[in-house]
Amino acid sequence: MPSIRVRNISKKFEDSIAIEDISFDVQEGELLTLLGPSGSGKTTVLRLIAGLIKPDTGQILFDEKDISGIPTEERNIGFVFQSYALFPHLTVAENIAFGLETRGWSRTEKEDRVRELLQLVGLEGKGKRYPRQLSGGEQSRVALARAIAPNPSLLLLDEPLSALDVSLRENLRKAIREIQQQVKISTVYVTHDQEEAMEISDRIIILNHGRIVEVGTPRELYLQPKKVFTAQFLGISNIFSGELEPETNGFKLKTSFGALFLSSTFPGKQTNLTFAIFPERLILSTTPTKKQNEFEVTIREVNFTGAVTSITVEVKSIPIEVHLTSNINAKDKYQNAHLYLTIPEEAIIVLENEA
Ligand SMILES: Nc1ncnc2c1ncn2[C@@H]1O[C@H](COP(=O)(O)OP(=O)(O)O)[C@@H](O)[C@H]1O
Ligand SMILES: [Mg+2]
Repeated sequence: MPSIRVRNISKKFEDSIAIEDISFDVQEGELLTLLGPSGSGKTTVLRLIAGLIKPDTGQILFDEKDISGIPTEERNIGFVFQSYALFPHLTVAENIAFGLETRGWSRTEKEDRVRELLQLVGLEGKGKRYPRQLSGGEQSRVALARAIAPNPSLLLLDEPLSALDVSLRENLRKAIREIQQQVKISTVYVTHDQEEAMEISDRIIILNHGRIVEVGTPRELYLQPKKVFTAQFLGISNIFSGELEPETNGFKLKTSFGALFLSSTFPGKQTNLTFAIFPERLILSTTPTKKQNEFEVTIREVNFTGAVTSITVEVKSIPIEVHLTSNINAKDKYQNAHLYLTIPEEAIIVLENEA
C-alpha cells in the first residue's frame, strides 16, 4: 500500500508555471528520486509535500487522508535542505535533538536517540561540536540525523550532496542509501545528477519544465528509455530519426549517415522512427571487418574522462559518439586516421516520436 500519493498537483508563481499536473505514489520504504535539470520544479514538489507552500490544484494524500489542511509541523516529515540549514549556535547533539523538543521526549529518551543517531551517521564523539567545526560532509550527516531523529513517516532530501566535492559525494550517497535502507523510511530524493540518481534510487521520476517525462527503475530508464529527453539526460547522446522500410530479411533504416540493415526481430514498426544509439555498444576497428552496418569514419574529437574515453566520429559529417574503456588498445585506435565503426543492432533503441 502506498504511503504517500500525489494527485494532479499544479503550482504557478505569478504567471510562470512551476509544476503542472504531477501525480505519483511513494511506496512504503522506497527511495524515489526526482531527477531533472535546474528549474524543472523539483524543489517545488518537495515544498508542496512538506506543506511549505500550497498547490493551486490537486491533492496530497498520506495513508489515503488528504493533508491539505495539516500544517507542516504536524505532517511528520523530515526535510534536509540543500544548504543543510543547521542551527549555528547549537551543538551537533542539540541540532539533532531539536525536533524532539516539541514532541515531548524525556531527557533520557532524547540522549539515547541522539547517541543512536550519531552512531548511525558515523559521527560518534562529535556531539559537542558546533556546525562550524565540522566539514561539509559531516554537516550533511548532521542534517540527515536531525531530519530522521523524530522517526518521520517521510524523508525529503533536496540535493543534499550538491555542495560537496566529487569523492565525498560518492561516499555520502552510499551512506545515505545504507541509512535509508536500515531505517526503512519512505524517501523522496531530489537531484540534477543522473549518476547519483541511478546509484541511489529504487525508482526515478524524470522532470522537465514542471512535468513528469518518464518514471521507472534506474535500469528501465537507462536501458529502455521511451522519450528523447530521458535518453539524452541519462547520457545516451546519439539521437537520430530515420525511415524504416521492410526488406526481404528484415528492415532497412535510412538515416542521415547512411542505411542500417536490421533483422526481422527489430522492434520498430512505424515508418518514421526516432532512435538512440548507445555510445558504449559501438565498435571501432582500425581495419574493415566487412560486417553489416560498418561505416568508414573520421575522428572529430577525443575526450579522455578517466575510465571511459569518449570519441566523436563523423560519418558523412554526422557526429556519432562512441564510448570506449580507456585501455591501451583504445589509445591506439583513436590515433588512427581511418577507422571503421560498426553499429550492432543491440546498440539501437527505438524512442517515441516527439509530438
Ligand atoms: N517562490 C518562487 N517565486 C517565483 N518563482 C519560483 C519560486 N519558486 C520557484 N519558482 C520557479 O519555479 C520553477 C521551478 O523551480 P524549482 O522547483 O526551484 O526548480 P528545481 O528545484 O528543479 O531547480 C523555476 O522556474 C523557478 O524560477
Ligand atoms: Mg531545487
